[in-house]
Amino acid sequence: MRTLNIAGSTFSIAIIAALLSACGQGPSEPAAPANDVNGLKTPAAFADIADDADRAAALFGEMSKVMLHPRCANCHPREGGPTQGDDMHPHSPPVVRGFGMGAAGMECSTCHGPANFAFASMEGSIPGAVPWMLAPQSMGWVGATPAEICAQIKDTERNGGRTLDDLVFHNSEDHLVNWAWHPGEGRAPAPGDQETFGALTAAWAQAGAHCPAG
Ligand code: HEC
Ligand code: HEC
Repeated sequence: MRTLNIAGSTFSIAIIAALLSACGQGPSEPAAPANDVNGLKTPAAFADIADDADRAAALFGEMSKVMLHPRCANCHPREGGPTQGDDMHPHSPPVVRGFGMGAAGMECSTCHGPANFAFASMEGSIPGAVPWMLAPQSMGWVGATPAEICAQIKDTERNGGRTLDDLVFHNSEDHLVNWAWHPGEGRAPAPGDQETFGALTAAWAQAGAHCPAG
C-alpha cells in the first residue's frame, strides 16, 4: 500500500509538472481585467479609488461620456425635437415631439422601421428599432453637465419612476440604449459597448450612486 501511495503521488506530481511545463515558462499570474473597451473605461479602472463617493462620481463621469454621445443625445434633447448626426443638427425633415412618437400622421414609425435600413442609392441608413421614439422632455440632457444629468436620472419625478436597479437594468438591457452600439451604416457607435456601460452603471449604483461635483 505504502509503495503504491508513494507511486501514486509521484505520478500526480509528474502530471502537474507536465501540465505546468505545457503552459510554458511564461508568468502564471491571471490576466488583469481589462481597463478599457473601445474607448470606455471599465469599472476595474476605478477599483483603486477607495472612497465610495469619489469612486461613484468618477464612474458617473465615465458613464456620461456615453450619455452625451450623439447616438444617445440625439434622442434626449431638453428642447425641441430629435437631432441627427455627430453635429446634432435638427432632424430633417422637421419632426415635432408629439407624445414622443411624433405628430399624428407623421409618427416616427412612418419612417423608422423595426431595424436599421440602409439607403439603396447612397451611403447611410435610416435608424430603426421598435418602438422608435423620443425620450420625454424630463429625460432630456443635451446641454446639461454630468452633475445635472446624474441628479436628474436618479430623480423618480423625472426618470419615469425608476429605482437604481431599474436604471441599471435599463442601461444594460434597453433596446434603444443597445441601438447606440449598432447604429447602422454611416454612423459611429457610442464609446465602449452596452455590457461595459451596464457594468459602469451597476458599479456606480453599488458605490452609492453619488454624483460628480459641478
Ligand atoms: C419623414 C421621415 C421621418 C420621420 C417621420 C422621423 N424620422 Fe428620424 N430620421 C429619418 C431619416 C431619413 C434619418 C436618417 C438621416 C441621416 O442619417 O441622414 C433619421 C434620423 C433620426 C435620428 C438620428 C440618429 C443619429 O444618431 O444620427 C434620430 C435620433 C431620429 N431620426 C429620431 C426620430 C424621432 C424621435 C422621430 C419621431 C418624433 C423621427 N425621427 C421621425 C426620417 C424620419
Ligand atoms: C431612439 C431614441 C433613443 C435613443 C437612441 C436612446 N434613448 Fe434613452 N430613452 C428613450 C426613450 C423613449 C426613453 C423613455 C422610455 C421609458 O420611459 O420607458 C428613454 C429613457 C432613457 C433612460 C431612463 C431614465 C432617464 O431619466 O432618462 C436612460 C437612462 C436612457 N434612456 C439612456 C440612454 C442612453 C445611455 C442611450 C445611448 C446609449 C440612449 N438612452 C439612447 C429614447 C432613446
